[in-house]
Amino acid sequence: MTTLIALAGSLKEQSLNKRLVQAAGLAAEQHGVTVQYLDLADFNIPLFSEDLEAEGTPASVNDLKALFANSQGILLASPEYNGSISGVLKNAIDWLSRPSNTSDIGSAFHSKVVGLMAASPGGLGGIRGLSHTRDILFNLGAIISPSQVALPNAYAAFDEQGQLIDETAAQRVQQLAQEVSRLALAINAG
Ligand SMILES: Cc1cc2nc3c(=O)[nH]c(=O)nc-3n(C[C@H](O)[C@H](O)[C@H](O)COP(=O)(O)O)c2cc1C
Repeated sequence: MTTLIALAGSLKEQSLNKRLVQAAGLAAEQHGVTVQYLDLADFNIPLFSEDLEAEGTPASVNDLKALFANSQGILLASPEYNGSISGVLKNAIDWLSRPSNTSDIGSAFHSKVVGLMAASPGGLGGIRGLSHTRDILFNLGAIISPSQVALPNAYAAFDEQGQLIDETAAQRVQQLAQEVSRLALAINAG
């Protein structure tokens, strides 16, 4: 089984990025992969501190890290905050990048295929944050898919079923989902 994690870098219940990653996950399911939809809000990850880490990697971090380690790819949509990656996502990545000292878990990001997306109410779609996220994950050994999606004016982008209204935006999400799925399937096949 080839599994993709679908995750948004937002804790907000009505998150635009959760909607976007959901659309990408549904598109990926058409390409022979299983998609596991995760919500960062369910994990209650504490703010990273080396003191806290020295007390033992929290169970919530181990749980999230194990899910990543057992996947072959990640569909990731992050809000752009002040031209960069959201704080909650960076905090989660910082924890996930560390070897757990309470459990034997493989790498969350190394050799994982990552498809990057952002949704924003603004006109640039969060594209500035994407390049920062790309750099961070590349440094952790991820294989970043060539396609990315920056969705502008995102409050008006989805219909009531969560489908993207604009045909071009929907095609971009389809292409990214297909790319990530194919790469993940190829890696899993060895
Ligand atoms: C602290 C903060 C900084 C923000 N900075 C940006 C920004 O640089 N660019 C942008 O397009 N939107 C920015 N926004 C607006 C977010 O794109 C918007 O709140 C969006 O809905 C967040 O994504 P979410 O709905 O998935 O949580 C910012 C919002 C906050 C709270």
